Amino acid sequence: MCGIVGYIGEKQAAAVIYECLGYLDYRGYDSAGIATVENEKLHLKKDAGRLHDIEKKMSISKLPGTMGMGHTRWATHGVPNMVNAHPHTDSKNEFCLVHNGVIENFRKLKEEVESAGITPVSDTDSELIVHVIQNEYSKCKNAEEAVRRTIAKLQGSFALVIMHISERKLFLARNGSPLVIGFGNGEMFCASDVPALLHHTKRFTYLEENDFAVLTKEGIRIENKGKQVERKPVEIKWTAEMARKEGYKHFTLKEINEQPEALRETCEQDLGGVVAFAKKFRRIHIVACGTSYHAGLTFKYLVQKHAKIPCEVTVASEYSYAEIVDKDELILAISQSGETADTLSAVRRAKGKGMKILALTNVVGSSLNREADMAFYTHAGPEISVVATKTFTSQVAALAMLAFGLSGEKKMEEEVRKAPEFVKKILEKQGEMEKLAEKLMGKEDFFFIGRALAYPTAMEGALKLKEITYLHAEAYPAGELKHGPLSLLEKGVPIIAVAPSGETASKMIGNIGECKARSATILALSDDDEVLAEADIPIKMPPVPEPLVPIVYVVPLQLLAYHLAVLMKLDPDKPRNLAKSVTVE
Ligand code: AGP
Repeated sequence: MCGIVGYIGEKQAAAVIYECLGYLDYRGYDSAGIATVENEKLHLKKDAGRLHDIEKKMSISKLPGTMGMGHTRWATHGVPNMVNAHPHTDSKNEFCLVHNGVIENFRKLKEEVESAGITPVSDTDSELIVHVIQNEYSKCKNAEEAVRRTIAKLQGSFALVIMHISERKLFLARNGSPLVIGFGNGEMFCASDVPALLHHTKRFTYLEENDFAVLTKEGIRIENKGKQVERKPVEIKWTAEMARKEGYKHFTLKEINEQPEALRETCEQDLGGVVAFAKKFRRIHIVACGTSYHAGLTFKYLVQKHAKIPCEVTVASEYSYAEIVDKDELILAISQSGETADTLSAVRRAKGKGMKILALTNVVGSSLNREADMAFYTHAGPEISVVATKTFTSQVAALAMLAFGLSGEKKMEEEVRKAPEFVKKILEKQGEMEKLAEKLMGKEDFFFIGRALAYPTAMEGALKLKEITYLHAEAYPAGELKHGPLSLLEKGVPIIAVAPSGETASKMIGNIGECKARSATILALSDDDEVLAEADIPIKMPPVPEPLVPIVYVVPLQLLAYHLAVLMKLDPDKPRNLAKSVTVE
């Protein structure tokens, strides 16, 4: 997804913006640009490619002026090239704008712009906005009013930063795409995400849906639907160091290794208030996407088994087709970023029907937290890599604590608190997983199988592999193989069986046997000697308490995906076609 940074203060804006944009690298982009204003003159440089290459070619960080904006673009409308890159300007070079999101009524705006005699130079929906602003300005001669009138015409999702050459102000607007405000001393910032600004400030506030704001170097004025609103900044505990690689080759590996600490922080929280809130409901309905959805599946298993509370888990983008309006049902929305459009949309729909919302996110102050009636957190720190690793295990831990809070099983809560120690031990398997990745080089199809809690673990393992190696990976409940997928098995196809000891082990042995009979290669992760004896490649795991299965067993799978990606010379931090924060539906 696109990245935005805006600055207004005393420093040279382009240098600040260039540095901050570097921290949004993880969002993925194909072109970038910066614009500044000095002495009522606009300076703008942009191009397709990586930031540092653009810098080498045209020194974008050296543009003059103490107010400006920057953008990293992830192409949606129009190919990645210089003309389509942001910022965009009007034909008189008076207004300038960066945009994140998708404008749905762009055809109508294009007609409006063209009938005013303006021919857009790019293929983007974003450029149209700046021409509409100019058009409005020619009528009202007031920059703020022109921006306001234009925003009222926009349909779709947007985070916008706009400036006019004769004003020491940045105009901001948000609808569907996040925009965070950073408070400095005598300087103000805005960005798509907190990590971009952490080395400048720890004080943040988020713009909310339909906010229109004016940023000066002294502060911010926010309006929502015409009314002025106050939003106090919150202090974020994350440090700038947390958003750096600190000697690791990739953020993915750093974040895999940060799991013991992330789990410790997450398990330390007291969920008393959250448990009391959730107890009021007869059923729980989880909405989430991707990895967060897998974490939700682990909760379903625990809360139904231990607290006897019925639980449904729906992929957020499917919620509207499956919704039940039942005031006895609590919506539990899980999202690392708290900004995922599909999850937010499901939550808003449920809220609209009078349902109560509990949110689990990793980002204090995110949109999802603000939509929710009650929120709790994973304390995993910033996750920069596009693939979720430490936030998955932290989500599972936080959710397990909630499940045992609801079942009243204090002992089980204590078991969850042991997660950091188990994960620390399992991280010693890094060398083993690297060697395993070497053995698996050249394989193109992978099947992950598991039962009960090991099934969402297998799903998460398959997701990691496909996200960063681009290899075909699928997960099945092990018992489902014989109902179709067995036909896909051939000699040497890797089957990764997540098979801890306990109630599922003997059935897993049977399922492994089915695969062996088709000459597949079995990799089994288990602490059960009988399971391990069945495997071509046994991966010995320590015995773990049942609720820790997803947390402990996913780690070798994360490492396997990571090492395979590295061996394949792929960048695991920035998988193709994917973005960290998916802010479009
Ligand atoms: C995880 O590795 C993925 N990048 C993706 O599936 C992610 O979990 C999904 O987009 C949901 O994100 P969220 O947790 O921020 O809502």
